[in-house]
Amino acid sequence: MLLQDRVALVTGASRGIGAATARLLAAQGAAVGVNYANNREAGQSVVDQITEAGGRAVLVQADVTVPEQVQQMIDTVRSEFGEIDTAVLNAGMNFPVKPFVESQWADFERKLVGEVKSAFHLCQALVPSMIQNHKGSIVVISSTLSRHSDMGFIPHCTTKSGLDAFVRSLATELGPEGVRVNTIAPGLTDTDATSFIPEDVKTAMGNALPMRRIATPDDIAGAVLMMVSDYAGYVTGSYTPVAGGGLMI
Ligand SMILES: NC(=O)c1ccc[n+]([C@@H]2O[C@H](COP(=O)([O-])OP(=O)(O)OC[C@H]3O[C@@H](n4cnc5c(N)ncnc54)[C@H](OP(=O)(O)O)[C@@H]3O)[C@@H](O)[C@H]2O)c1
Repeated sequence: MLLQDRVALVTGASRGIGAATARLLAAQGAAVGVNYANNREAGQSVVDQITEAGGRAVLVQADVTVPEQVQQMIDTVRSEFGEIDTAVLNAGMNFPVKPFVESQWADFERKLVGEVKSAFHLCQALVPSMIQNHKGSIVVISSTLSRHSDMGFIPHCTTKSGLDAFVRSLATELGPEGVRVNTIAPGLTDTDATSFIPEDVKTAMGNALPMRRIATPDDIAGAVLMMVSDYAGYVTGSYTPVAGGGLMI
């Protein structure tokens, strides 16, 4: 058990990478707040899977772009399990993949402001107690597209680059306080968010990678576990691609 006595919050944990991460952190001993925005049934199913496996979890609804809902979510997890010492900022905003000249600012803004705003408010609510306890680990889910680019992905690339800078800056401020902040950057991962890509295209994209396949949500969850565990206790401000060799830095 790598996370015995830990209390974790995973945002966007009803599906995809967040769901796999919540299940894995719980399997390693953490009590987990499982956040969702709209899909209560999917969130409840993750909580049920965790509890049926002998773990501890609480379902918490919140739109992470709304500060009041973020605070309510954190209060619920705290009252259920105690102080949160592990946070995975995973929830990402959808955006239409299209050429820049056809892009609308409203779509760009929802992605950019939504993800940066949620990181700001989540960390503002979580960090003071981490500083007080001199203990905390925050992981932000970025993307390999923060370091390179793809057609139609400008809002995603721009947003995730901003989050990478947020992580480095926060890690610098919080290092002396015993709080670690790191980036996990998935490559193409098989989730609902990528279901618009035809299967044969995904297979071809996987075959172009050194590891000859795209990622599963469990691949990303494993890297998050590694990063939040005490074995990574001297790692902060880092950027770790989890991309089957698709990005080497
Ligand atoms: N999949 C990839 O290829 C890939 C690659 C690189 C990076 N990423 C990043 O990995 C993260 C997870 O992606 P995914 O592919 O696992 O997504 P996904 O399968 O589409 O799941 C999205 C999750 O985020 C939640 N969510 C969406 N908006 C939210 C909001 N405003 N407040 C709270 N929760 C919200 C959803 O909740 P509901 O179920 O309630 O809607 C759901 O749990 C994102 O940050 C994404 O940018 C993904």
